Amino acid sequence: MKFFLDTADLDEIAEAASWGALAGVTTNPTLYARIGGRLADFHNHITRICALVEGPVSAESVAMTRDEIVRDGRVLAALAPNVVVKVPAMVEGLAATKVLAAEGIAVNMTLCFTVPQAILAARAGARYISPFVGRFDDISEDGLDQLGDVVTAIGNYDFTESTAGGEQIEVIAASIRSANHVTQAALLGADIATVPFDVLKKMVSHPLTDRGLESFVKDWEKVQNA
Ligand code: E4P
Repeated sequence: MKFFLDTADLDEIAEAASWGALAGVTTNPTLYARIGGRLADFHNHITRICALVEGPVSAESVAMTRDEIVRDGRVLAALAPNVVVKVPAMVEGLAATKVLAAEGIAVNMTLCFTVPQAILAARAGARYISPFVGRFDDISEDGLDQLGDVVTAIGNYDFTESTAGGEQIEVIAASIRSANHVTQAALLGADIATVPFDVLKKMVSHPLTDRGLESFVKDWEKVQNA
């Protein structure tokens, strides 16, 4: 499993990248608004994120028609070689994905909640598919069940003919709320988990690690003073 950071915050990205396990970044309009992002700076900001990580950086189009999404997608993809265009799972989004994929532009199909949406995304040529886990949990449904179904269904078929560059589709477990979501997503076989920075920090730590470290430090002091 690979880890992406789900943020538009440059400091968080730089910090996570320094830890050595960051394989990419996903952003969305909410995450960009959360850091006080302005429309005029958006493209520059995506370019700066792309310079901080070697892996794919998803930048979202919020257009509602095929032609507008395609236009946005071309502009975003031209910002840096590692840009992935994030497109919502809807009819116009599928149609735009088909055009972008044919041009060799990688698409991450976002706001994906069901197996049929995921299969349609795959057939349209999406390189990444992002089933949202936490938002299902928010409405008292089981997001991990849905994620598992998408992983299984996508794994049942060969979609390499559809994707830009004939690559394997990767399923991104998105809308992750906890380290346990990451554990379960890994057990279900998700290729990637995109996680907020606070979840990434929780993934690193465990109270028994802290306790063990504390006692090792104390015992080492005893050795030095013996
Ligand atoms: C995925 O790419 C999305 O940016 C993200 O995971 C959405 O998560 P949320 O439900 O916490 O907003």
